[in-house]
Amino acid sequence: MKKIYAKKDYPLDQIRRHLEPGPIVLVTSHWQGRDNIMTMGWHMMMEFTPALFGCLISTIDHSFEMIRKSKECVINVPTVDLADEVVGIGNSHGTRLDKFRKFGLTRVAAEEVGAPLIGECYASFECRLHDGSLIPKYNFFIWEVVKAHVAASPKYPKTLHYRGAGEFMVAGRAIDLREKFKKQNL
Ligand SMILES: Cc1cc2nc3c(=O)[nH]c(=O)nc-3n(C[C@H](O)[C@H](O)[C@H](O)COP(=O)(O)O)c2cc1C
Repeated sequence: MKKIYAKKDYPLDQIRRHLEPGPIVLVTSHWQGRDNIMTMGWHMMMEFTPALFGCLISTIDHSFEMIRKSKECVINVPTVDLADEVVGIGNSHGTRLDKFRKFGLTRVAAEEVGAPLIGECYASFECRLHDGSLIPKYNFFIWEVVKAHVAASPKYPKTLHYRGAGEFMVAGRAIDLREKFKKQNL
């Protein structure tokens, strides 16, 4: 018998604590000779081919104008060993600060865009703006990933997933349900 939950009213402004998908990513940008990094949890996959990815970048972030103007960024995926950097980068503004230097991270040149990859992240996705029509209303950017870099190991990276209010989950046990899948690619 599966458990049926008795649910209570829940504050609408806290639903993100259950729906935020993760993994937490570090978004790098480059504009007018300067690089920056921000932490991001509000993002989603949108299409297989072309590889579309959407994300929410607040106007209060220094990265917002850098990314809006350059129309490019790199989405870097950190693992739990970078947890302190994830929090530090998400709690500082790159207006004058060089976050690569401050957090001891390594810039690696991208192939297709001006923003650098972060060497310490196991995956980095170079993005070009695909559709900016939702930026004015929702600060929502729709990207096409034009180049993907992923390390061969670890196979199951211990990524960070945000629960809000400073709490994170770490990706855990993998379960293999492939034999139950009827549709390709899902
Ligand atoms: C765990 C975490 C998740 C975050 N997710 C987002 C997000 O999805 N979108 C956003 O605009 N800011 C997000 N932030 C806030 C930015 O990372 C933060 O405002 C950062 O200081 C921006 O840096 P910048 O001003 O140098 O661009 C997040 C911060 C943390 C700590």
